[in-house]
Amino acid sequence: MAFPRTQKSKPGPSSPIIFLAICIAAIALLFLFSCLISTSGFYISSPKILESMPEDKYKSQNHQSGHEKYLYWGDRIDCPGKHCMSCAGLGHQESSLRCALEEAMFLQRTFVMPSRMCLNPMHNKKAILHHSNDGISEERWAANSCSMESLYDMDLISGTVPVILDNSKKWYQVGETSMKLEARGAAHVEGVSRVDLKENSRFSNLLIINRTASPLSWFMECKDRKNSSAIILPHSFLPSMVAKKLRNAADEIKELLGDYDAIHVRRGDIIKTRKDRFGINRTLHPHVDRDTHPEFILHRIEKWVPSGRTLYIASNERTPGFFSLLSVRYKLAYSSNYSHILEPVIENNYQLFMIERLIMTGAKTFINTFKEDDTDFSLTDDRKKNTKVWQIPVYTMDEEGT
Ligand SMILES: *[C@@H]1O[C@H](CO)[C@@H](O)[C@H](O)[C@H]1NC(C)=O
Ligand SMILES: *[C@@H]1O[C@H](CO)[C@@H](O)[C@H](O)[C@H]1NC(C)=O
Ligand SMILES: *[C@@H]1O[C@H](CO)[C@@H](O)[C@H](O)[C@H]1NC(C)=O
Ligand SMILES: *[C@@H]1O[C@H](CO)[C@@H](O)[C@H](O)[C@H]1NC(C)=O
Repeated sequence: MAFPRTQKSKPGPSSPIIFLAICIAAIALLFLFSCLISTSGFYISSPKILESMPEDKYKSQNHQSGHEKYLYWGDRIDCPGKHCMSCAGLGHQESSLRCALEEAMFLQRTFVMPSRMCLNPMHNKKAILHHSNDGISEERWAANSCSMESLYDMDLISGTVPVILDNSKKWYQVGETSMKLEARGAAHVEGVSRVDLKENSRFSNLLIINRTASPLSWFMECKDRKNSSAIILPHSFLPSMVAKKLRNAADEIKELLGDYDAIHVRRGDIIKTRKDRFGINRTLHPHVDRDTHPEFILHRIEKWVPSGRTLYIASNERTPGFFSLLSVRYKLAYSSNYSHILEPVIENNYQLFMIERLIMTGAKTFINTFKEDDTDFSLTDDRKKNTKVWQIPVYTMDEEGT
C-alpha cells in the first residue's frame, strides 16, 4: 500500500483534542465573521449574512407608505469601472452626488447611495495636521476609499432626500423584489431625460431605475447647473450633512476658537507651473502663488480682518511656518492646534477637510482663495475655472488689479 498507516485517522486518545480544536476554530471563525459584518464596507454576497444585519436605520415617509421606488446610479461616484486612483477630488464627487440626489428628488424616488467613496491618493496627503511640526512630510493616508457613512449622516440626508446604501439589507431585498416583478422591476436607462423618467409610464412605474450616468462625471447629467431656478439643492447641502462625529469635532474646535475669522489658502496643485516651448514657466492662475504668500495676504485682508483677531488658516501648504508672518497682526490657529480633537476621529483627508469646512463656515469673516458665487471676499482676483490659457506667473505687487 502506498499510504503509510500513520495517516489513517482512527479512534484513539487524540480525537477529543481534535474535536476541541475544531470547536475553537469554529467559534473563532464565527467571531471573525460577526466583526466583518459590523464593518460598513463589507460587501454582501450571501443572504445568510444578511439575516444577521441590523434593520435599516434610514426611514422616511416613502418607506412608511410602502410605495417607494428607487433610483440607482452605480456603485461609485464618477468612477464606473475605474480605479479610485483616477477619481476626482471631494469637490467634484460632491457636485456629482448632489446632481444624483436632485434627480431622486425630482423623480420622488429613494436614492441608492454608493456605500463607499473613492479617495484619490493625490488628495489624501496627511501633512495638514502636522504642518507646524517638523519638516515637510510626504506621509499619506493609505486607504483609497472610505465608507460613505464615515463622511455623511444618512439620517440627516434622508430628511431631505430619502437614501439607502447599496450594501444595505433593504437594497438587497429591493433587488429580489425587482426580479419577481420581471419587466416592471428594473430597467437600465441611458440618455433618457429626467422629465421622461418621471412622466412616461414606461419608466415611472418601475421599482428601480438603473441609470448609467456620464462615465466622466455624474454632474454632467445636471447640464443646466447655471440656471439657478433649476437647482434644487444648494451648494451648502452636502457640507452641512457631514457625519455626526465630524460635526461634533468641528463644534468643539469652534467653541475653543470663540470669535474668529478664517481664510482658506489653496496652494499645492493650484499653483503648479509647466514650461512652454521656450522653457518659460506658465500657469493657469498667474497671481495665485503671489496672492497666497503671507505678505500679500496681510495686505489683502487688512480691510476685512481687524488687527488682533483670531485667524483660522486652512491650507494645503506644507512648508512649516509658511504663514508665520501673519502673526504680526493676528492670533493664528491651524488644524494642528487641535490635533488632540482631530486625531481620534480623522482617518482621511476628506474627513479633515469636511471639519475644516465647517470651521470656515462658522467664521465671522471668511475669505476664500478664489471668489465663489456665494462668498464676498477672496485672496485672489484670478478666476478659479481656467482650463485653457496658460500665463506667466506674476510675483510683483505692481501687477495687482490686472
Ligand atoms: C445596472 O445596469 C448595469 C448596466 O447594465 C448593470 O451592470 C448592473 O448590474 C445594474 N444594476 C442593478 C442594481 O440593476
Ligand atoms: C431654468 O430652470 C427652470 C426650472 O427647471 C425651467 O423651467 C426653465 O425653462 C430653465 N431656463 C432655461 C433658460 O433653461
Ligand atoms: C519654474 O518653476 C519651477 C518649479 O515650480 C521653479 O523651481 C523655477 O524656479 C521656476 N523658474 C522661474 C524662472 O521662475
Ligand atoms: C496654535 O499653535 C501655535 C504654535 O504652537 C501657537 O503659536 C498659537 O498661539 C496657537 N493658536 C491658538 C489659537 O491656540
